[in-house]
Amino acid sequence: MALSGKRILLIVSGGIAAYKAAILVRRLKDAGATVVPILTKGGAQFITPLTLAGLAEHPVYEDLFSLKDEAEMGHIRLAREADLILVAPASADLIGRMANGLADDLASTTLLAADGPVAIAPSMNPVMWANPATQANVHALMSRGVLVWGPADGDMACGEIGSGRLTEPEELVVMAEAFFAPKPLAGKRALVTSGPTHEPVDPVRVMANRSSGQQGQAIAAALATAGADVTLVTGPVSLPPPVGVRVERVQTADEMLAAVQSALPADIAVFAAAVADWRPKDAASEKLKKQAGQDELELRFVRNPDILASIAQGEPRPGLVIGFAAETENLVENAQAKRRSKQVDWILANDVSGGAVFGAPDNAITLVRGEGADGVEAWPELSKSQVAKRLVNRLVEALEGGAKLP
Ligand code: CTP
Repeated sequence: MALSGKRILLIVSGGIAAYKAAILVRRLKDAGATVVPILTKGGAQFITPLTLAGLAEHPVYEDLFSLKDEAEMGHIRLAREADLILVAPASADLIGRMANGLADDLASTTLLAADGPVAIAPSMNPVMWANPATQANVHALMSRGVLVWGPADGDMACGEIGSGRLTEPEELVVMAEAFFAPKPLAGKRALVTSGPTHEPVDPVRVMANRSSGQQGQAIAAALATAGADVTLVTGPVSLPPPVGVRVERVQTADEMLAAVQSALPADIAVFAAAVADWRPKDAASEKLKKQAGQDELELRFVRNPDILASIAQGEPRPGLVIGFAAETENLVENAQAKRRSKQVDWILANDVSGGAVFGAPDNAITLVRGEGADGVEAWPELSKSQVAKRLVNRLVEALEGGAKLP
């Protein structure tokens, strides 16, 4: 398990999202972590110490001056024994006290005594989050190396919409796992394209395809977890973007090409987008209206740029260019042909006969890295995130084996 052997000091401060700390404790434990909870006075208004202690299977610390706590484990030891201190939810008040070095309760004193990694997951009303005072406090903490995990956007318990929601517990666990994961791709720049493109027919209609963006996003997330500095260029998808990745949103193939070009140079580029090969010629500037008696509509299409080929053959060329080949027949032959004609280093060939891959959780991939049988590796059917992790493993092996990456 990704967090086995890790001791996480979880500080739960006040706020309606404190109830989510219960789920967070569960998920951290599921991932193998030891969770030591500290509950502030404000936090205890929203969740009971008994709930946290029961789920954490560990006593909850609340009081700086409790002799029992101090005798068992002083706040200094509490801070120093943690592999990570995670403040979730982090209220505006606690963030302010951290930024100003206050030490007037167990949580703030422990944080001031900490000399290891600290992450905060802010949670508050959007106006409080946007307030220059909060922003100045958060920036002060960031400049001192505190990790800031969130907040997320969306509907708030207070009825307002905006940025200020606690990052979901599952995502916080992913962030904690990424924090502890080895970083074999640290210092490498990676670029990933993902999702479909939407090519306008008129102001209200587009030509699109069924790509969900799952595979590309999983690859971007796996590269980021391995320490790469990742830019994800994505067409329109409904998935929330992966954490720890720079996201550029585009609609059309032309926009995707421009965004990819401006993200260069890159050490690794993975082209997972299902780019439309064609776009309607001269998209109508007004909505196309039906004419009386009209039974048919003819549209003319023109070729879109091949983003993969133009980057693989252009300058500055990424050190390793990886494409996909979606095929319904002759998988390996067609993938080899694409590899040669587009001058791509590696191809992930997938069988899309029946359209089963689009939006599905699994993917069956054949990795093609060179001519002949030696260059071909058929993978079993794996989840899209396992495909992403296996690809990153192959990348790391190649790097360790001295592959030419700048
Ligand atoms: N690709 C791209 N730009 C395009 C078309 C495809 O960057 N205009 C990339 C895809 O992201 C993928 C690879 O090219 O990595 C192969 O895409 P695929 O649809 O399998 O092949 P095509 O080149 O479009 O060839 P065909 O549809 O004729 O099989």
